[in-house]
Amino acid sequence: MATKNKTMNISTEVSGILAKLTLKEKIALTYGANFWQTIPMEKVGIPTVMMSDGPHGLRKQNTAGEGADMLGVQPSQPATCFPTGVCIGNSWDVEVASSVGEAIAREANAQEVDVFLGPGINIKRNPLCGRNFEYYSEDPYLTGKLAAAYIAAAEAQGSGTSLKHFAANSQEHRRFVSDSVIDERALREIYLRGFEIAVKEGKPSTVMCAYNKINGTYCSDNQWLLNDVLRKEWGFEGMVVTDWGALNDRIKAYQAGCDLSMPGGGAYMATAALAAVGKGTLKESDIDACAARIIKLALKGKIRPPQAAAVDYDAQHELARTFAERCAVLLQNNDSLLPLNESTSLALIGSMATKPRYQGAGSSLINPTRLSSLSDAMPGVPACKGYHEDGSTGDDLINEAVQLAGKAEVAVICAGLPAALESEGYDRCDMKLPEGHNRLIEAVAKANPNTVVILYAGSAVETPWAEKVKAILYMGLPGQAGGKAAHNLLYGKANPSGRLAETWPLRYEDCPSAATFGQRDTLYMESIFVGYRYYTSAQVAVRWGFGHGLSYTSFKYTDLVIDGLNIDITIQNTGAVPGAEVVQLYLQAPSGKAFRPLHELKGFQKVHLQPGESRRVHFTLSAKDFAIWENGWVVMNGSYTLIVCGGLDSGNVLTTVYEMKDEQPEPQGELEGNWYYCLKGKPDQASFEHLMGKPYQASQSTKGQYSFSNSLEEMRKDSRVMAMMYNGVKQHLTKALGSDNAVQDSPAFKMILAATVESPVRNLVVSGGIDEDLIGGLIDIANRHPLQGLSKILQSKRKPNR
Ligand code: BGC
Repeated sequence: MATKNKTMNISTEVSGILAKLTLKEKIALTYGANFWQTIPMEKVGIPTVMMSDGPHGLRKQNTAGEGADMLGVQPSQPATCFPTGVCIGNSWDVEVASSVGEAIAREANAQEVDVFLGPGINIKRNPLCGRNFEYYSEDPYLTGKLAAAYIAAAEAQGSGTSLKHFAANSQEHRRFVSDSVIDERALREIYLRGFEIAVKEGKPSTVMCAYNKINGTYCSDNQWLLNDVLRKEWGFEGMVVTDWGALNDRIKAYQAGCDLSMPGGGAYMATAALAAVGKGTLKESDIDACAARIIKLALKGKIRPPQAAAVDYDAQHELARTFAERCAVLLQNNDSLLPLNESTSLALIGSMATKPRYQGAGSSLINPTRLSSLSDAMPGVPACKGYHEDGSTGDDLINEAVQLAGKAEVAVICAGLPAALESEGYDRCDMKLPEGHNRLIEAVAKANPNTVVILYAGSAVETPWAEKVKAILYMGLPGQAGGKAAHNLLYGKANPSGRLAETWPLRYEDCPSAATFGQRDTLYMESIFVGYRYYTSAQVAVRWGFGHGLSYTSFKYTDLVIDGLNIDITIQNTGAVPGAEVVQLYLQAPSGKAFRPLHELKGFQKVHLQPGESRRVHFTLSAKDFAIWENGWVVMNGSYTLIVCGGLDSGNVLTTVYEMKDEQPEPQGELEGNWYYCLKGKPDQASFEHLMGKPYQASQSTKGQYSFSNSLEEMRKDSRVMAMMYNGVKQHLTKALGSDNAVQDSPAFKMILAATVESPVRNLVVSGGIDEDLIGGLIDIANRHPLQGLSKILQSKRKPNR
């Protein structure tokens, strides 16, 4: 009752405030004030909303000027760097996800941040996406459940979250302009489903719309995405904020229900929006709705615990360690080499043991309060570097490692992806580890049969040496306490209980999206066959499957009972040490008219058990769990196999059958004969066009039709003025940051370059504060309308305060 009254009070207050604002003020409110804050309007009682990046820690920066950026290049306040998204995904543990959300909210409250920008839950469509380390999984159900737990826990602390990047934003290449071309079934079942669960169950204060287009329409302009699906279908009542610089067309964005454009500093198309209301082409009520949602969020900020308790950063660090332990995946453990004995003599090899790889670059880069390395946790253990920071190695380094490994009972190698290979802003070029790491592992494994590899990477990598080493422990990018966590796992002080949240293919070419990933316009030709949905259905062998992970103990599955849609099973720890098992529930649909993957995850639970202990685990399914999307959710009748297991490739797999009857209407399929039915080879364009119901037409940016949505990079080829600007920006950057190879290969250089020359020129207005008429004039000149262009440029020069 109290909550209902509070909600009613806020709505009345919002309407009261809105009535006092002029149209111009309401428009102003829909742009940020600076890099991180919304505009306060004190005279009517609207406070500012302060935002800072997440998702695995707080990146609180200065609000404007030199200290603010969206690429993680400028410093931020120290904060706890928790395990990154890849680890949360691998935890398969809603308790971990919710504790991370809660722990970040504690720091947000103490640092007076109203909304932190996370979680990021885009689907890991392809291992090469540069931001996979921030995301959870290739599976929407696992993603959605973890995100919902994180969001609900953070919001319960009075902190706002921003669920991002909505939607279908699964690559970094040309991220500001790319078009994700996807059939509606794949959108609904794969790319939107995680968001749907997170919105409905987690109730985030805000959702961040992505940079990219979906089927030709920018997310910020997308009525179907924001109004129809997010708000009307899913009941989202919060605010939609653009990703930083993702606003495409302010008028369309109002109509779509895209409320706030960030970062602030410019007011792109504000004049046009005002004029559109005058002309009757934009309804004032659309602007009111956006402004109202911003006011509502600003008022909600008032309910943050006023004197937020001081944060105990030592305790937060310890939490980060326990989370990292609960997220690690033991991929392989031949002859039970792990856990190690305290008395075993070791060689610690690889510079990641001393300089840990623990987070990725970009907007999520945290300035950690402290940092634990594996070598700090193992003082006195003989160690050597093995490779250089860029991943290369040399005979001297290899020889040193081989010598050291030869003298020890067990060789422990820390290997993975160097920081420059994994970042926001660009994708990886291949799925390989650096040549130097592979060479080192091969050489050490030859010298010592008892070799353990500890892997640090935000997504799957090829492991051609897997059969030559005994144990492989995958830490993901485990956050600031990852060193101590790896130590505890090696020695069995913690028992690994993570499971892979994405498939590790044998080689990149095996990925269903290998041929189409990373184009400017990306055809999601594989449709719903993403990750394990493809590999198990097409029977393509993988290195380690989705849901795979080992433990230092063993589990037994018995007494599977099904009663209607209720499923119960007993799990027992049959080993000698405490451990946690991830019980997974998959659905296998009967064959019917519509194509369907062989396995679909519909439930999971992490169960902690003492040696000998057993527990009854319960799942409840709903009709929607059986449904596919065919112009709505529809359920196919027939016998469904329900698989309860500790991973599809584990020794523990029990099955039962559920008879689905009398659900109407049945899906029609209608596509028999194309790739989706046979899964032979790779998806082809003809099958995809059949699925889309129309031929694909590439969106070409052509000479004469350039707009604010085109980038300098695109226009320079046939416009001298744009080519000059492009070269100017590059030269300026090189001068500011440095011209040597190390700088030009650094994530910062690549990201800044992409954010300027590859992003639509409107961003020079939205985030760069450059006058709209000046850029408009240059576009006119590029379109061969020099007089019109010059007149706009002069107009811009005549404006006051420039
Ligand atoms: C990223 C977002 C981030 C925002 C603010 C953008 O470049 O895509 O994830 O929250 O910047 O830093």
